[in-house]
Order: sequence, then C-alpha cells, then structure tokens
Amino acid sequence: MEIKTELAPLIDILHKTKRVVVLTGAGISAESGIPTFRGEEGLWKTYRAEELATLSAFIKDPRLIWEWYDWRRGIIGSKDFNPGHQVLANWEKLFPAFHVITQNIDGLHQKAGSYNILELHGNIWKLRCTEEETITENHSTPLGEIPPHCSNCGALLRPHVVWFGESLDPSILQSAFALSSSCEVMFVVGTSAVVQPAASLPLSAADSDATVVEINPDPTPITPYADFSFRGKAGDILPRIDGELSLINPSGEE
Ligand code: OAD
Repeated sequence: MEIKTELAPLIDILHKTKRVVVLTGAGISAESGIPTFRGEEGLWKTYRAEELATLSAFIKDPRLIWEWYDWRRGIIGSKDFNPGHQVLANWEKLFPAFHVITQNIDGLHQKAGSYNILELHGNIWKLRCTEEETITENHSTPLGEIPPHCSNCGALLRPHVVWFGESLDPSILQSAFALSSSCEVMFVVGTSAVVQPAASLPLSAADSDATVVEINPDPTPITPYADFSFRGKAGDILPRIDGELSLINPSGEE
C-alpha cells in the first residue's frame, strides 16, 4: 500500500468523516516538556522501569515509589497543554463522534478541554485505595504525606496507573477496541506503538477499513499500516491539518 504524505487528500476525507478516534502517546506531550519513555532523554533510560513501575516495587518500598511519582507529578503539574492537545480538544466540537484514546497519564488532554477520553494507563492525578479500590483525585504537589493513606480506612493509597505486569481495565479496553473498529479515521499520534494492547488498536482500525493517519517524527511498527504518514511534531502537524480544515470549512460545520 502506498503511504500518502500530502495533506489535501486527507482533508477531503476528513470533510466526509463523522467518526474519528485519536490514539495518543507520550510524544504528544513532549512539546509540553514532559519526557517521553523511549527517546534519547526517555524516562526509562534514566530509571529502570522494573525497579519503579511495578506492584512488587511498591509493596517493597511504597515511600520510594511515591517519591518518584511525587517528583513526576511536580514536573507534569508545572506543564501546560500544547497546540497538539488544543486541536484535539477543538475537534471534539467539529466531528459528530470524536474520541481520544490515550496512553498518557498526565491529564493534559483534559487540561486542554477534551472530554471524550479513554485513559488506557490511568491518571497520575488519581490515587487508589489498596484496600477499598476507591479512586480519589488529588492535584497537590508535593503530596502532603508520603506515602499517602486512605482518609476512610487508613490503608495505603497507590497511584491509579497501570504498572508493568498489570492488566488494563477491561471495560476501558473493550470500549477502546469498539471505538477503533468502528471509526472512519484513526489518528495515531506520538506513540512508539510497541506497548500492547494499545499498539493493536490502530491495527483493529485498519482491519475495519478505517483511514489510519500517523503523526510522528520517526517511523513505528504502525507505519506500514498507515494510509497517511506525517513525519513531524504533533504540535506542528495537527495545527496544520486544523488550519486546512477550517480554511475550506471556516464555520466548522458540515
Ligand atoms: P514512547 O516514549 O515509547 O514513544 C514516544 C513516541 O513519540 C516516539 O515514537 C517518538 O518518535 C514520538 N515523538 C516524540 N516527540 C514527538 C512530537 N513532538 N510529536 C509527535 N511524536 C513525537 O511513548 P509511548 O508510545 O506513549 O506505559 O509509550 C507507551 C507506554 O510505554 C506508556 O504509556 C508507558 C510506557 O511503558 C505505562 O506506563 C503502562
């Protein structure tokens, strides 16, 4: 299959499209100043994931794990959404059915104004009771107590994120596959597409004859399945697509 790199044929398709899904990864937040996982400055190069992002590491030393998350919360909390997040938030009003499926835990899609979001790997601003499984939102940086405890039962709280070796929430995953296999266009933005099951979502869209559009400075395992590949930064490419869309359709209506 020939991979297209021009905007015009994509804009034609988008003008006829009602159902759009965007799968995002760490790359969309890179321009906000949040390190990706696998790049040159990738988080997993400085820290060994298996030492920090696992349940056994948390059980062994909850204070250490919470210190790491508290540090990450401090970094993320000081950052803002970028033009890439902004465009996706705007597109929720442009397309009749528009959903973001994100692997990111940083909450920047919400900060930009997106509502229809499936968070596959959880959210760093949510804390989960290890006894009651209740989830609370907490935006304090730094946290008042490390490690934090449940105000109801006193048990340890953990970050509401998916760690290595843990399963994704089955209902979120089911919704993500349902959306991916029924959308007309899927954008795949800023993910290395090596972590499953998220990496299978674009394949499910491609199998269902959706138009797959990849936005990434580098090729990924998804690239051969993409109908369009735009090599560049999300914060440049998404506003360019948005600009072309509103040029032809300035009211934002069909
Ligand atoms: P990665 O760090 O693996 O990949 C980031 C991708 O973003 C790479 O393909 C980069 O080329 C691309 N990229 C970098 N800057 C970009 C920019 N400005 N615009 C667009 N793309 C850019 O991050 P993920 O694919 O999100 O899981 O990683 C997936 C999962 O691996 C994470 O959710 C995390 C990690 O283990 C958990 O914590 C469960």
